[in-house]
Amino acid sequence: MFITLEGPEGSGKTTAVEAAVKALEAKGYEIVRTREPGGTPIAEQIRNVILDKANTKMDPRTEALLYAASRRQHLVEKVWPALKEGKIVICDRYLDSSLAYQGGARGLGVDNVLNINLFATENTWPDLTLLFDIKPEIGLQRIASNANREVNRLDLEKIEFHNKVRDTFLSLAKKYPDRYVIIDASMDRESVAKATLDAIMNRLCK
Ligand code: TYD
Repeated sequence: MFITLEGPEGSGKTTAVEAAVKALEAKGYEIVRTREPGGTPIAEQIRNVILDKANTKMDPRTEALLYAASRRQHLVEKVWPALKEGKIVICDRYLDSSLAYQGGARGLGVDNVLNINLFATENTWPDLTLLFDIKPEIGLQRIASNANREVNRLDLEKIEFHNKVRDTFLSLAKKYPDRYVIIDASMDRESVAKATLDAIMNRLCK
């Protein structure tokens, strides 16, 4: 089972899933937690190039290709082997982030970005995608008030960019209703955590 967590900046997806992971492990499931871009040494090196605030000259297609390259390396080294061993892989961001950020917000086009990602992933789709939906104003405020969260090059984009990210995620949820579950990330922490575990358990018991 391959589960991905998606959403705009500051949606709290990482925190929300922590409680769900603990509960699943207590039930005996083997979980691999990972993230994109990164998750393996080569993919983390690519991540550093993409997110470096100094790289203001990065071309949008270069950015999309680097995310796809990092994704590929992460699949080969970490995700595919874990899935083969029957583990549940829970990954912070995946292909849908490229569709929303590079395809929608950067304006490269969702279909163009999908094409390079189908090449990169050899059509590996998540079984379940949890979309932690929140208004960008609230998400960005959360980041600003969290001293432990490093601000990256994408965080520094204007509010219109983040609105486009959110709108694209919502349209992807409509396009792929079988694998998408939308979670209202503006709820309190406990409610978000509960909705997260419920969505995963529903999918596991299907
Ligand atoms: P990260 O610090 O991991 O952010 P978050 O905690 O919000 O997941 O940084 C990842 C950034 O990269 C984030 O701004 C979203 C962006 N991104 C893309 O633009 N395209 C992608 O394909 C992926 C995976 C992430």
